[in-house]
Amino acid sequence: MTTVDLPRVSVTDAPLGGPSLPQERRLVTAIPGPKSQALSARKTAAVSAGVGVALPAYIVAAGGGVLIDADDNSLIDLGSGIAVTGVGNSAPRVVAAVAAQLAQFTHTCFTVSPYDSYIEVAEALNRLTPGDHLKRTALFNSGAEAVENAVKFARSFTGKQAVVAFDHAYHGRTTLTMALTAKNVPYKDGFGPFAPEVYRAPMSYPLRDGGLNGVEAAKRAILQVEKQVGAGNMAAMILEPIQGEGGFIVPAPGFLPTLLEWCHANNVVFIADEVQTGFARTGDMFASNHEGIVPDLIVLAKGIAGGLPLSAVTGRADIMDAPKPGGIGGTYGGNPLACAAALATIESYESDNLVNRAREIGAIMTERLGALQQADARIGEVRGRGALMAIEIVDPATGEPDALLTGRVAAAAHAQGVIVLTCGTYGNVIRFLPPLSIPDHLLFEGLQVVADALGAL
Ligand SMILES: Cc1ncc(COP(=O)(O)O)c(C=O)c1O
Repeated sequence: MTTVDLPRVSVTDAPLGGPSLPQERRLVTAIPGPKSQALSARKTAAVSAGVGVALPAYIVAAGGGVLIDADDNSLIDLGSGIAVTGVGNSAPRVVAAVAAQLAQFTHTCFTVSPYDSYIEVAEALNRLTPGDHLKRTALFNSGAEAVENAVKFARSFTGKQAVVAFDHAYHGRTTLTMALTAKNVPYKDGFGPFAPEVYRAPMSYPLRDGGLNGVEAAKRAILQVEKQVGAGNMAAMILEPIQGEGGFIVPAPGFLPTLLEWCHANNVVFIADEVQTGFARTGDMFASNHEGIVPDLIVLAKGIAGGLPLSAVTGRADIMDAPKPGGIGGTYGGNPLACAAALATIESYESDNLVNRAREIGAIMTERLGALQQADARIGEVRGRGALMAIEIVDPATGEPDALLTGRVAAAAHAQGVIVLTCGTYGNVIRFLPPLSIPDHLLFEGLQVVADALGAL
């Protein structure tokens, strides 16, 4: 076996992240450059092939609206690590709070030796989430883990088992959340059997459901659920107020309130999965607020802690208090470093008025992407809210999804140093999730690069 001397980027060589990084797109090499390519070779040799990479430019620093790769390219970030770094990468408040906590203690396990920051995060989430009823919170590590626990709370409270999720839904990759997730490849293929007592209902998808309004689409879902599952068996209905991986599908107005009303009439817990939409992303603190709904339980993760792993279930106290003591927990859930990060992150959302910043970003994206759609019939729809927007790419003659073109546009943007992500059941959606710390000029430039990429294909 031959050994190859591969470069290693040490922490001391890397530039410091945070907003001090020059806010510019800078292409020093082709992307990925030679150092990233060497790291890709190491990755192939060391990491499971099942762990895919969207853009194999290896990152050494990030902040504001850029990521710096191992070859010193400065990439415009329109992905935020999938809607995580809303407050920015290495945001100063978060860095200071985590550093201070790091010097105090790193871990005790809250269910063994508790600490106050866990409670403080719970109090903040109880205050910030929709509704002024009595609430409780429990903390976990990932979005999927929080979704699993939301189902546990609902089952414990109702004494029922069935859970209804929707077409195009994405709720994670664990056994139960794979069952809740709709799309087979790549999320489920070959990984069955899946958790039982999970059923699927039709979603409101205004571009593709024949013009149903929100109430009609909800009634269609309710009819199917009543016929195929039965409210008497149902513990919960779970849905994303705007679907994420499924294609940034914004349900027609009235869909969510109609479902919520039916759940309340039938002792079914309504769970809003706001893992991707939460924390200012959509131009409100939570996407549920746009439709004025108050979910029974709300699942939170991603944007909650500035990049540290933390997730939560927050909701009605009677539901959250249903499990027996000890029934809910885990070694790392609500880890003190993640809690310190969450408190600093929440402070940033509130005191820096990042809800408003998300709206500003949304206005820019709506205007730019709308102009692009006017000029190019291959953009079937521009949709989303705030700093969570997408374009759906179609064959203009038939309206059929064009996944091939979508992938080529994303690849061309990557080659020009702009990180965009694709999504959608049909793989034909490009989504834009810039950090709320991105300066306007980078946002304009990033969108222009995508427009030029599409124009050239
Ligand atoms: C709506 C939604 N729910 C759940 C998850 C799973 O979160 P995690 O990847 O942290 O397990 C995601 C992740 O993309 C998501 O978008």
